[in-house]
Amino acid sequence: MRWLLVALGFSFAAYFGVAPPGRADPKPPPAAIQKPYALAQLRSGASFMAPHLQAQQRDDDQNPGMLWVDQGRDLFAADCARCHDAEAQKRLAAKLPRVTPNGPVVTLETQINRCQTDRVKRADYPLESQPLLALSSYLSFAARGEVYRAQSDVTSTEAWQRGRNAFTQVQGKLDFSCAACHDQMAGKRVRTQAISQGHGVGFPAYRVEWQGVGSLNRRLRACYFGMETLVPAQSDPILADLALYLAWRSEGLPLEAPAVRR
Ligand code: HEC
Ligand code: HEC
Repeated sequence: MRWLLVALGFSFAAYFGVAPPGRADPKPPPAAIQKPYALAQLRSGASFMAPHLQAQQRDDDQNPGMLWVDQGRDLFAADCARCHDAEAQKRLAAKLPRVTPNGPVVTLETQINRCQTDRVKRADYPLESQPLLALSSYLSFAARGEVYRAQSDVTSTEAWQRGRNAFTQVQGKLDFSCAACHDQMAGKRVRTQAISQGHGVGFPAYRVEWQGVGSLNRRLRACYFGMETLVPAQSDPILADLALYLAWRSEGLPLEAPAVRR
């Protein structure tokens, strides 16, 4: 990961040389918290990928993620469809993640497991297991093109604040924050890898590196690993808080799972 240091030092010099950030600006009032990217600037991760990966994502016959979607469609028909009709299925994934009054952030994965245990009356699926990825891929695919709408008061919730803090906090041996890469270096290259704006709308996604589909949770843990800092456990609520913050941050970008990534 040493090359990252070099790359970052480089672009920070360039960045700070042009515009020293946040020095004179007064803090915006809490009611109008600004998003890192204005709506018109939002770019999905796909647009940072090589053309052949973008083409693979666009063509359902070529997109390996569709194997998970097909499996999830069958599972959903067998276990879930009696309560969620075809019209409703299109929007289930677009409503999550969501803050609940006194509980943790509900993500698509935790909600699927809640229905699995409370309504289907079966044991929940382990995170990152095949059936859970199949169901989440199917529901995300069903919601393709839908746009997530954050709850109106989301920025005043503790979960969102924890998510934002996790995103902006500098940590690890390399002194990185998520924001250092995805807010400040988007579009720059480290080696052959282009850094995107870091949105979650393509997940669950097929990654060539994984040779399979993985959740946003797994992608985030991979980024923590890259920062050479403590990688949170799969079940760590901070990953759901981050997912909530990311969803707010990318609000307006159409859902595009299953994406194809390198
Ligand atoms: C050293 C730079 C770096 C840091 C720091 C970093 N990431 Fe990433 N991240 C990447 C790279 C490289 C990728 C893969 C290419 C891309 O989509 O940017 C990636 C991918 C992602 C993606 C998937 C984007 C997509 O469309 O496929 C998300 C979401 C993400 N990162 C969030 C985070 C979060 C949250 C953190 C902090 C916990 C973080 N990243 C820290 C470099 C970084
Ligand atoms: C017996 C009826 C029933 C079954 C079976 C059922 N669900 Fe649900 N599901 C509900 C109800 C009712 C809600 C809304 C209340 C809630 O959030 O708990 C819901 C909510 C959801 C949501 C969140 C929608 C939102 O607006 O936030 C998802 C996603 C979901 N279910 C997926 C599934 C999946 C996947 C299965 C199969 C493993 C399944 N459900 C099986 C009744 C059911």
